[in-house]
Amino acid sequence: RERKRKEGVNLLELSASFFRERMKMPEAVGARDYLSNRGLSDEIVGDFGIGYAPDDWEGLKRHLTERGINEAVQIEYGLLVHREDTGRTYDRFRDRVMFPIRDIKGRTIAFGGRVLGDAKPKYLNSPETPVFHKGRELYGLFEARQASNRLERLVIVEGYMDVVALAQFGIRNVVATLGTSTSEDHLSRLFRLVGEVVFCFDGDRAGRQAATRALETVLPLMIDGRQARFLFLPEGEDPDTLVRREGTAAFEDRITCASPLSEFLFDQAASGRDLSRVEECERYASQVLAALGKLPEGVLKSLMLGELSRRTGVDQSRFELLMARNGSTAD
Ligand code: UTP
Ligand code: MN
Ligand code: MN
Ligand code: MN
Ligand code: MN
Repeated sequence: RERKRKEGVNLLELSASFFRERMKMPEAVGARDYLSNRGLSDEIVGDFGIGYAPDDWEGLKRHLTERGINEAVQIEYGLLVHREDTGRTYDRFRDRVMFPIRDIKGRTIAFGGRVLGDAKPKYLNSPETPVFHKGRELYGLFEARQASNRLERLVIVEGYMDVVALAQFGIRNVVATLGTSTSEDHLSRLFRLVGEVVFCFDGDRAGRQAATRALETVLPLMIDGRQARFLFLPEGEDPDTLVRREGTAAFEDRITCASPLSEFLFDQAASGRDLSRVEECERYASQVLAALGKLPEGVLKSLMLGELSRRTGVDQSRFELLMARNGSTAD
């Protein structure tokens, strides 16, 4: 089993270097143009180990097979696809820009591959394998730690390109979830490394929904003075497009000014409600209370209850009573 795992790791490194080498070949001119049109320098491409999967059904398969990696392992680690009906096997990634996904120690554990044009799917990711669990990994974490050994804050974005584009502009404390929503597992891993996370999702409906879910997920983890903040981008922008439009300083200002969790929570509950109306204010209070019920006991929770009391004019002790009751009925 251990031998097999080693074989898998070896095959992933072999594949990563294969893709990197291919990026230098004449056939990769389209991929190189694509990256330079997106504003990426050779240095950043190198830092992230970005490569190119050739437009060939068996390029990687031949390369790995010649090096003694058997097909079953290539399939298990997601590089090769096996078609049940024909029994044929072929490269999963073809004619794509390849982003190696690395674990915290820098070992390649999976890949994301982007098409050069508008074909679908835009990104193709490695499937779940013995070393890759999508809901756990964060793209860019290894690179962020390489760039600084004193990280204080990490920015969480949606996409590979957001991580890489921000790095290009010198903002290197950025990670992305891999096409999944931010999980509690992701967040507890990040909070082991830094005291502050800033959520920065795309400026679209999906991005705002992701922020709402992230709020729910982060609430139970708010202990020991941890900070969580929320950065909302203008409609239609993502971190990549925005940093290219506005530059480093403006983007850093946005990070600095991102809403603290408390502000986002109150704003979110208030949105669309006229708080001068009794019933709407009541729903507002219930929504805030439900969220506060997920916060661990502590100063933050007390302060937020106090704030709710000021905002609604209802005694804090009433809310405390309600919370205690909600808590006991919820169990
Ligand atoms: P986006 O479509 O916002 O990606 O999806 P992006 O990084 O902005 O893409 P481009 O290159 O600038 O156009 C966000 C993330 O969701 C996952 C990828 O991880 C992507 O980075 N995703 C998206 C997929 O896994 N598959 C897809 O087809 C699309
Ligand atoms: Mn698994
Ligand atoms: Mn989006
Ligand atoms: Mn995007
Ligand atoms: Mn984008």
